[in-house]
Amino acid sequence: MKALIFGSLNQDIVYDVDHFGKPGETTKALRISRYPGGKGLNQAIAASKAGSNVHMAGCIGPEGTWLLNELETAGVNATHIRIVPDTATGTAIIERDPAGANRILLDPGANNCCTPEQIRETLAGFEAGDLLICQNEISHLTSLLEQAKAKRMRILFNPAPMTPDILDLDLREVTWLAVNESECARLLGCTCDDPMQLCRLFRQRYPETGLVLTLGSRGSLSLQGQSLCRVPSCCVQAVDTTGAGDTWLGYFADGCSRGLSVPDSMMRANAAAALSVQVAGAASSIPSDREVSAFLAQQPMESVI
Ligand code: RIB
Ligand code: NA
Repeated sequence: MKALIFGSLNQDIVYDVDHFGKPGETTKALRISRYPGGKGLNQAIAASKAGSNVHMAGCIGPEGTWLLNELETAGVNATHIRIVPDTATGTAIIERDPAGANRILLDPGANNCCTPEQIRETLAGFEAGDLLICQNEISHLTSLLEQAKAKRMRILFNPAPMTPDILDLDLREVTWLAVNESECARLLGCTCDDPMQLCRLFRQRYPETGLVLTLGSRGSLSLQGQSLCRVPSCCVQAVDTTGAGDTWLGYFADGCSRGLSVPDSMMRANAAAALSVQVAGAASSIPSDREVSAFLAQQPMESVI
């Protein structure tokens, strides 16, 4: 069984600030760093480090080839990534505060050069039952979802960043939708912030689709059919939360792809995300499967069931 991440690849330019500025205010950066990033790349590296056979497709500009090295070092097959001439690689300008929180400004660059033809050529190498993982940072997402459904691939869709056009997509045949609480509420067109109520509303709207609801420091919830599973988060001190959601998703995708149980997949995803927030950067902070297992072995039993 293969996993394909068709998604964004970015260079993350991170500015450390002592506070986030208000509109009209100038803030001085304390330090500037560059990391590999993009929700697609982060999730691909996480799924590969977790143990899956991962392929990644997407687009970069000519100066973005260092991102291919990052993927290959993590064991991701990067042969479906196109280098688009005369185009800038996607860039995320990230402000990071001392508590590890962030604010992101995204220039999609080459991520907007994905075409239905590239999608067709890439999907030709995959078959029914293979897992497609995608997010909302590339062009022609509608075509990607339609072509994957036509091939009867399983789909794990993370509609982040959430934009109004997501509401126009036909998400009924998506296998898993992975969202946080505010994304879930926007998807359902409500203002509710109670996770159980969100699950009930989700089930009414999407009777066939699995839901994973990430709740930050309160852990995560999944709903498959009528079966609900809640896994608490691991308590850690964050230095950089950028990409923690992607680490979670990549580990969860690995569990789906390898046929692990949903609670096991969620527990490993929670542990991987907890380890990643303790290290700076997004992709560069994703732990290995061995580190995740060692961390889980140290957790008190009640926090892992
Ligand atoms: O989810 C985190 C990612 O979002 C960052 O790596 C940045 O590139 C943005 O795409
Ligand atoms: Na991190």
